[in-house]
Amino acid sequence: MDKKRIMVIFGTRPEAIKMVPVIKALEKAAEFDPVVVVTAQHRQMLDQVLDAFNVSPDFDLNLMKDQQTLTSITVNVLSQMEKLLQQVRPDAVLVHGDTTTTLAASLAAFYQQIPVGHVEAGLRTWEKYDPFPEELNRQLTDSIAEWYFAPTERSRQNLLKEHHDDKQIYVTGNTAIDVLAHTIDDDWQLPAFKLVNPEAKLILLTMHRRENQGLPMKKTFAAINAFVLEHPEVEVVFPVHLSPKVQKAAHAAFDGNSRVHLIAPLNVIDFHNLAARSWLILTDSGGIQEEAPSLGKPVLVLRDTTERPEGVQAGTLKLVGNDGAAAVKWLATFLNDQAAYEQMAQAKNPYGDGHAADRIVDILRQKLS
Ligand code: UD1
Ligand code: UDP
Repeated sequence: MDKKRIMVIFGTRPEAIKMVPVIKALEKAAEFDPVVVVTAQHRQMLDQVLDAFNVSPDFDLNLMKDQQTLTSITVNVLSQMEKLLQQVRPDAVLVHGDTTTTLAASLAAFYQQIPVGHVEAGLRTWEKYDPFPEELNRQLTDSIAEWYFAPTERSRQNLLKEHHDDKQIYVTGNTAIDVLAHTIDDDWQLPAFKLVNPEAKLILLTMHRRENQGLPMKKTFAAINAFVLEHPEVEVVFPVHLSPKVQKAAHAAFDGNSRVHLIAPLNVIDFHNLAARSWLILTDSGGIQEEAPSLGKPVLVLRDTTERPEGVQAGTLKLVGNDGAAAVKWLATFLNDQAAYEQMAQAKNPYGDGHAADRIVDILRQKLS
């Protein structure tokens, strides 16, 4: 039997985490020959994921630069992928989500007339600059894609609003949920647990988005810092994204506060287990908004919009903007009102049953046989 060659392309930490289940499912399928390509738009944070799940890429474009810009990443991915696609000639390409790698790899495949499957298709805020540039990255990727693997019915509806072909849209669940089944372990130990007083209420913080860099981040960090100083019962663990702008802002705000622990990015298994032990999560991350509802952790989302309204509807996410004011107001409420906290800390998972990757591979089987 002639195996169909499926090229799976990704470049950043969140894409890697959510593509690993797809790679593993493709590896198990006799009809497919998966070819794993990393652009390495991220280097260390990508390698943490590859190591954690024992994934060895077939091709590594090794593109990350300290001073990379949206343009430089796009140009480099486009030109490198042109050569690689011509060399490998896959039967189909899979991309994930909404990064610059996602869009540039999709465009490169389109130029070679190779069909693209978009994993996590159809997420929308409908605000062109929020998040920037991700909202347009996903809309453009969906214009290029042939097959849409939409995580929820709502994302399917978003695609229909843009007049994409219903016959090409599949509601699969989000592969983020597939991953959680392999990472959470009640006995997991990690050094970050030892940093924190076991009696303290542990707040897990992450913030990295481009539109939050600068003043929003400065204000948010200042508000959190002041809140922690006023409330001895809380401690913060902040695995700081390696972006130099985020590193600088985090250290400027929190150095000297012994109850805010700035640590290096964690590998995903450590991170999920830390999240599972936390009291509450403050984040502007997309992926964490999908994981936290499954873990029963309230999330204060440090943004004005979200492309993940399912979690807001389920009651586990609350949008608190990006100036810190509403975030600390809600933190104070939850410290004083156990019932309000409990109401948000319900384990609900609107993102599928943990079998999204198997579904994606089944659909590819139908499409490519
Ligand atoms: C990118 C994605 C964003 C995603 C985020 C996940 C785009 C436009 N943005 O944003 O959608 O939410 O990844 O984290 O695609 N760096 C390192 N080592 C690493 C990773 C990053 O040093 O392993 C530093 C580099 O200096 C790099 C900078 O971080 O230049 C920014 O990385 P980049 O991928 O451009 O943007 P992110 O903010 O990470
Ligand atoms: N994550 C991780 N280590 C960390 C912080 C986050 O492994 O120190 C994981 C997290 O569980 C989620 C993903 O990284 O699966 C989210 O990535 P990020 O916040 O960088 O990007 P986004 O999802 O916002 O695009």
